[in-house]
Amino acid sequence: MKVVETKNLVKNYDNGEVITKVLHGIDFSVDEGEFVAIMGPSGSGKSTLMYQMGLIDEPTSGEIFIEGKDVVNIDVHERQQIRLKELGFVFQDYALIPELTAAENVMVPLIMMGYSKEKAHDIAQKFLEKVGLGHRLNNTPSQLSGGEQQRVSVARAVANEPTILMADEPTASLDTNMSEQVMDVLKDLNKAGQTIIMVTHEDIYGKMAQRVVRLRDGNIEDYGNGKKK
Ligand SMILES: Nc1ncnc2c1ncn2[C@@H]1O[C@H](COP(=O)(O)OP(=O)(O)O)[C@@H](O)[C@H]1O
Ligand SMILES: [Mg+2]
Repeated sequence: MKVVETKNLVKNYDNGEVITKVLHGIDFSVDEGEFVAIMGPSGSGKSTLMYQMGLIDEPTSGEIFIEGKDVVNIDVHERQQIRLKELGFVFQDYALIPELTAAENVMVPLIMMGYSKEKAHDIAQKFLEKVGLGHRLNNTPSQLSGGEQQRVSVARAVANEPTILMADEPTASLDTNMSEQVMDVLKDLNKAGQTIIMVTHEDIYGKMAQRVVRLRDGNIEDYGNGKKK
């Protein structure tokens, strides 16, 4: 089953004076359970493609379906609900809240979804244990290494058991050892069934995915695994 699909997806950025054409009509899909890496040169549109599929931004034209549901022509509230329930995000800079502990960071989206504090804490603990941080629940981000912070961010992204985990350059701020720890966590999650879309410009990490999709100048030049579309 396709968990996400785009049809003729176009994205232009318009700042009032200059129009930058970034995505030129992308037809793309990811099946349930896949671990897909989106690769390509800097500026080729990798993050832009992910942000359209992740409902962080709105396309200029074209269609996007999440689990078969049209997510372009829906209202703001419905988009917000899908973002909260179906999607989890990991960014290069971790995007943790500095004042909160690791456990509290993971609890934030769970509480937004309506879980009680107690239940949210139990879930946060379970997912932090999964990423090897069961002993770091009460540490704030500044007390953690970059690799640990990124694993907190992964735990937060998957704690609501999203349909798709989207990671934009999750290892770009990390050294090799920490990057491998984060990649191990992603591979384990995928083995347990989590669908993952990861943007990276680093070949060694892209190769750890099941499929590598290559973007160039806003077009897909290779769908990977011999796929045509
Ligand atoms: N908000 C924006 N406004 C204008 N141009 C943008 C914006 N975001 C990205 N771009 C441009 O779109 C192109 C693709 O960017 P991006 O998707 O971030 O590439 P990648 O992630 O592959 O490095 C680049 O030329 C970039 O400068
Ligand atoms: Mg990018």
